[in-house]
Amino acid sequence: MAREDEYRASDILPVPRTREEARQAYDRLSRIYDYTIGAFGRKYSAMALRRLSITEGERVLEIGFGTGHCLKLMTKLVGQTGRVCGIDLSSRMIGRTRRRLDRAGLAERVSLCCGDVVHLPFAGNAFDAVLACFVLEVLDTPEIPVVLEEISRVLKPGGRLGSCQHVKGERGVRACKAL
Ligand SMILES: C[S@@+](CC[C@H](N)C(=O)[O-])C[C@H]1O[C@@H](n2cnc3c(N)ncnc32)[C@H](O)[C@@H]1O
Repeated sequence: MAREDEYRASDILPVPRTREEARQAYDRLSRIYDYTIGAFGRKYSAMALRRLSITEGERVLEIGFGTGHCLKLMTKLVGQTGRVCGIDLSSRMIGRTRRRLDRAGLAERVSLCCGDVVHLPFAGNAFDAVLACFVLEVLDTPEIPVVLEEISRVLKPGGRLGSCQHVKGERGVRACKAL
């Protein structure tokens, strides 16, 4: 019998929208994100971040960083000698994150880029750790392995991936899972 935490490809719902539709949706959502779905997921993204065990001096990347709560924490964890990069599709999410980092006096230590996670604009073996919270699930099913390949390419050998996603239970989307 399948365990509750085993998932089949058929459990993953398709996401039939264009990149432009996704970008516009997240631009619109950015204003209320922290008070709605962002607030619901924060405990799980914090859990995924903790499990990454980021240490001082590391080079780390967050993909689909939203309003930047985790990027701010990651920047503190890597300290002055580390390096933090982030990529997100939505320029308004990026704007919110930039303001958050500015207020914390951390903006100069983080490189934010506007782009698509299916083509990570970073060299191979560039990062010790990658964080991906509630982002793989907003991609269409065939894109997920492509993004995982990209993450694997930019991670150093032995690098770590931290992630959390909504998961489907018997009564629909029910919970979050941090890995
Ligand atoms: C559900 S939000 C999650 C935000 C944040 N990681 C969190 O845990 O609150 C998904 C984020 O991924 C971004 N995103 C969606 N599709 C993307 C893509 N193809 N490439 C880059 N970012 C994308 C959105 O703009 C949004 O900021």
